[in-house]
Amino acid sequence: MPFFNQHQLFIDGKWCDADSLATFPVTCPATQEILSHIADASETDVLNAITAAETAFTDWQNYSFKDRSRLLRKWFDLVMDHQQELAKLITQESGKPLAEARAEVAYAASYIEWFAEEAKRIYGDIIPSANQYSLRVIKQAVGVVALITPWNFPLAMLARKMAPALAAGCTLVAKPAAETPLTALALFALAQQAGFPNGVINCVPGTQAELIGKIFTSDLRVRKISFTGSTAVGKQLIAQSAESVKRLSMELGGNAPFIVFGDADIEKAVEGAMQSKFRNSGQTCICANRFYIQQNIYDEFVKKLSRKMSQLVVGNGLEEGVTIGPLISEKARQKVLKLIDRAVASGAEIYHQLPLNTNLLSGFFVPPTMLTHLQFDASILREEVFGPVVSICCFTNENELIQQVNESEYGLAAYLYTQNATRIHRLTQQIQAGMIGINTGLISNEMAPFGGVKQSGWGREGSRYGLDDYLSLKYLCEVL
Ligand code: SIN
Repeated sequence: MPFFNQHQLFIDGKWCDADSLATFPVTCPATQEILSHIADASETDVLNAITAAETAFTDWQNYSFKDRSRLLRKWFDLVMDHQQELAKLITQESGKPLAEARAEVAYAASYIEWFAEEAKRIYGDIIPSANQYSLRVIKQAVGVVALITPWNFPLAMLARKMAPALAAGCTLVAKPAAETPLTALALFALAQQAGFPNGVINCVPGTQAELIGKIFTSDLRVRKISFTGSTAVGKQLIAQSAESVKRLSMELGGNAPFIVFGDADIEKAVEGAMQSKFRNSGQTCICANRFYIQQNIYDEFVKKLSRKMSQLVVGNGLEEGVTIGPLISEKARQKVLKLIDRAVASGAEIYHQLPLNTNLLSGFFVPPTMLTHLQFDASILREEVFGPVVSICCFTNENELIQQVNESEYGLAAYLYTQNATRIHRLTQQIQAGMIGINTGLISNEMAPFGGVKQSGWGREGSRYGLDDYLSLKYLCEVL
């Protein structure tokens, strides 16, 4: 079976059908064509996967860091060798344009490469002692971890969790999004080829997300859950995990402000706005979600951004030149269209909306849209839009701005455009966000700690901090 055509569960080093023999269809969001039918994991399958991961843990934890690093490196090489096939799969099942899918493969691979290196750097500590004791701290793998990943970056979000877990010495059970399991299974097939021992990695795609979440949160053998997805589901998992006092990493929703001051380089700000807003058709947690533009440059910014937006090409991501794909589902499309309608009903103006070609009617497309004249309290500024909609407000002074920016319950990313160094210093201290792009709309890379504050979640992914989420500290006190 070619690695990119896997449709079974991966448990204990073997591909298998679901215990119930149930399957579910995977659909292309650009055409609604059924791409494949995938084994639909049942309770028995998930429990089997946890058993396999639990059994494999002791041996894997005791692998030398060099051997773990070598396996990760081999996996990285295999992902890079199959970039084109992986990118095509991502586009087919998630809808994102091929160029973005290729960038996602490189982005995913960069986490595997990074953590292949970091596996060698799990340092402990020696604490200066005030008496006759030797005080040491060592770090150990957390144990079996459950990973729940979303459809918007089907390869990168899985790699960003699997690579540090494996580098740290954890074994894992992954539940990829039901919308995009083909990419996940291809990644597992490549990991199998790299030679991870049986039981170390397990993959259980399925439509019974709630049931699988309950198994993960209640099973005492699962020591940690790492979840990327909505704040609403994150809250459920947090509540369910209380009983077993499980360790959690939560990468949840965002509502990124994109702030442009009058002294900013406007061309750069427009370029950053396009990159941040329209990546994956606006379906990222760190997409600019609400634009605050200072009054003295408001008209110029709006005109220039609108001009750039007219260059976007909406269509099937597999076609050359397309820059905006469909949304993931009809439900997502309806939600975004409703948000636009509601904003207009409450006084916003549609300044720009790209016309949609009639040949796109079978897909979940939303026309890139710019809304202006929004009031600070407009509901579209409070919700995570997850679509190609630019919502713009005008501000006059910094104090008023900061109050609006920090009113959100989210605190994932923020973008700030100004050339005033003192203002950069002051505002980056004040803005309540886990990540801030300063004069840039692109902030994600494997070297940096990705994560949020407030209801955007806990924990960090990527960077030297990313391993900590999969390690426990053990303090050793020895009398000399
Ligand atoms: C996300 O949308 O959750 C991830 C975005 C990124 O890694 O840049």
